[in-house]
Amino acid sequence: MEKIVVNGGRMLHGEVEISSAKNSVLPIIAASILCKDKSVIENAPMLEDVYVICEVLRDLGCNVYIDKKDNKITVETHNITLKEPNMDLVRKMRASFLIMGPMVAKFGRFKLSMPGGCNIGSRPIDLHLKGLKALGAEVETGHGFVEVDAKKLIGNKIYLDFPSVGATENIMMAAVFAEGETTIENAAEEPEIWDLAMFLNSMGADIRGAGTGTIKIYGVKELHNTCYRPIYDRIEAGTYMVAAAMTHSKIKIKGVNEEHLRPVISKLQECGVIIHTLNNGIIIDGSNKTKAVDIKTMPYPGFPTDMQAQMMTLLTLASGTSIITETVFENRFMHVSELCRMGANIKIDGRVAILDGVKKLTGCEVKASDLRAGAALIIAGLCAEGTTQIGDIYHVDRGYVNIEEKLKKLGADIQRVKV
Ligand code: EPU
Repeated sequence: MEKIVVNGGRMLHGEVEISSAKNSVLPIIAASILCKDKSVIENAPMLEDVYVICEVLRDLGCNVYIDKKDNKITVETHNITLKEPNMDLVRKMRASFLIMGPMVAKFGRFKLSMPGGCNIGSRPIDLHLKGLKALGAEVETGHGFVEVDAKKLIGNKIYLDFPSVGATENIMMAAVFAEGETTIENAAEEPEIWDLAMFLNSMGADIRGAGTGTIKIYGVKELHNTCYRPIYDRIEAGTYMVAAAMTHSKIKIKGVNEEHLRPVISKLQECGVIIHTLNNGIIIDGSNKTKAVDIKTMPYPGFPTDMQAQMMTLLTLASGTSIITETVFENRFMHVSELCRMGANIKIDGRVAILDGVKKLTGCEVKASDLRAGAALIIAGLCAEGTTQIGDIYHVDRGYVNIEEKLKKLGADIQRVKV
């Protein structure tokens, strides 16, 4: 077990480089299953979740080469088999369910362990299954498994009751070889959906409208080899933006697509943070006193739920009262009790958090309950008085490449220690 120890009070300076988006790379690796022979992912983030999905593909018979020096992942699919993947492996990460769409598209059937809930909510898969059924598949659930059987997938119109990211991705991948035209309405519009579609199109798929609420997939016969570079991680970038704002520092963040961060940038500006956009990056200047703001998480292009915990940390020290409403996940306030241990004044009422800004946070021992909660606590430690020790740091390693190294380079007093 490891924990991160932060001595607060240091200002940040210099620049930080953002890695590729975890939430693009996970579905992209799953989509590699559809490739006839070989796909290469460049600038891949070396993260625990990425290693897990690679392991799942290996378990199916793929050759997966992870080149940590060049940040490159190569997937060869010629030995892939229709087998039930190791349940313990699949259950390590909910995103493993993203192999369902590609496996059904490739083999016409697949049996996979049902993903469980997790720390941020129950996270059902009804919309994924609704989409597969609409394409002509028979779906059976029972004894902890989902079994999908589709002699032939045929394009159809699918309306999603909620623009689920995972359901949009799974249906898009399942429909790649389906006969005729598939339309997903009320599709998720996240940049990572666009990225997955671009990856599939680079292999010869015909997907149009990804990144908007209506996606059309025209079935093709097969997908050829590709080499693809995913988009930058907007949530990692947003996390460093908040770190700068929190410590009243000025830093440069390289690898930012401003458009993907509009909702975060606009909220930070409302808080008084000064942001200059560059060609492939931004300069963030947090020298002003932070003002309270209200935030409601929403599907893209609304404010991302994956930035809620980090923004909450910033607002613990803002002047005035902020209200944060979490509409995407039912249980994403696990960081609140830990922030309160550090001196924050936050009250929860269902999906609403009411924050009264306090003068300072004080360091203590806290625990990361999930990936973004962990990042939020590290940021809190950067400006807290004294030392903050963040336990269960494995959550953070699932989604942030070398977080303590990147922060150390920016001047933070931070280290990882074995417990
Ligand atoms: N939902 C349903 N039925 C479904 C699918 C989803 O009710 O069939 C509900 C969920 O329970 C949840 C909401 O819809 O309340 C949103 O879920 P969605 O399917 O959009 O999320 P996801 O695909 O499970 C991805 C990211 C999450 C991110 C969300 C929302 C990946 C691997 N994960 O999850 O990332 O929070 O979209 O943007 O792409 C993170 O990186 O920390 C993270 C949790």
